[in-house]
Amino acid sequence: MNVGESIESIRKQWGKKLFILGHYYQQDGVLQHVDATGDSLELARRAATEQKAERIVFCGVHFMAESADILSRAHQTVYMPDIHAGCPMADMAPLREVQQVWNEIQAVTTDLSLPERSAQAGWIPVVYVNSSAAIKAFCGEHGGSTCTSSNAAKVFQWVFNQGKRILFVPDEHLGTNTARDLGLPDEAVAIYDPGKKWGGVGVEGIARARVLAWKGYCHVHTFTADDITAARRQHPGAKIIVHPETPAVAARLADAHGSTSQIIRYVEAAPAGSTVVIGTEFHLVDRLARQHRGRLAIFPLRQSVCRNMILTTEAKLLALLEQWPAEQVVRVSEPLRVNARKALARMLEVK
Ligand code: 13P
Ligand code: SF4
Repeated sequence: MNVGESIESIRKQWGKKLFILGHYYQQDGVLQHVDATGDSLELARRAATEQKAERIVFCGVHFMAESADILSRAHQTVYMPDIHAGCPMADMAPLREVQQVWNEIQAVTTDLSLPERSAQAGWIPVVYVNSSAAIKAFCGEHGGSTCTSSNAAKVFQWVFNQGKRILFVPDEHLGTNTARDLGLPDEAVAIYDPGKKWGGVGVEGIARARVLAWKGYCHVHTFTADDITAARRQHPGAKIIVHPETPAVAARLADAHGSTSQIIRYVEAAPAGSTVVIGTEFHLVDRLARQHRGRLAIFPLRQSVCRNMILTTEAKLLALLEQWPAEQVVRVSEPLRVNARKALARMLEVK
């Protein structure tokens, strides 16, 4: 039996007691063996509703598997084929720094009598799921919600409906793009650099902000205005769509931006014979190009691969299913779990 056949044979033996989830950025060799494929929101929902499986295998990156564990039931254990598949962006927001900034911005709102203050209410943390369980727990403890790129606008609106403002962690670009989508003026959004005094924006900047976005980013999605210009030159008449982790200067020049599932729907709705250029992780773009070959011409804005996503391979999946090593269990500690679950549950409830 080859690797793929061995995996399928083990899956058959386990039946409904095993559930394998795979993010769209995974390689095809891995995705052919999963029970559910999705973007981070869809996978969080699947993890939350899966009841029968005793073992959940997450083919993605660590924060996703942590979310699956937080949302799982007591009889379920979450595993990763490669436990080292992390997310550099998630690592850009350590708990201690976020706590410090949180205290700092409370002080600005409570201690200063700046003219803007009267118009501005308190803060609610909104945390991108691309973050550690500790940050999600912090968020839940302070009445906040997680979000993904699919529902960031809805979660932001949920905060604004309460008359509050947002500390958004850890992706400055998703924060900025979402604020702009909701019609906020540029001066209402500030990028908070935790390495600088008052985040580099000063007390006035903090007092004025309705969205304070943590200075973090995903290097896979750092497309530039030059990338867009080059694509327009190379593919005249093409539509360009980018993921909202893309810097706003480039996202603004594209025809659209959207989460992974929104990109997929955009491509499905594109008229036959048209060309679509996509700015997101290469494995997804390449798969869409193959799936729509003959109907659409699809090109990557730039060939950009998430090195962490590709750490998971068919061979590692097989090794996991054969041996179930304890080191590959993803388990969030109980105190963090309770509050992190609150933040994830709020996100899943926001309509
Ligand atoms: P989505 O799956 O929410 O589009 O996020 C993309 C991503 O970067 C996952 O890490
Ligand atoms: Fe993290 Fe970017 Fe990879 Fe997503 S694509 S897992 S945000 S590094």
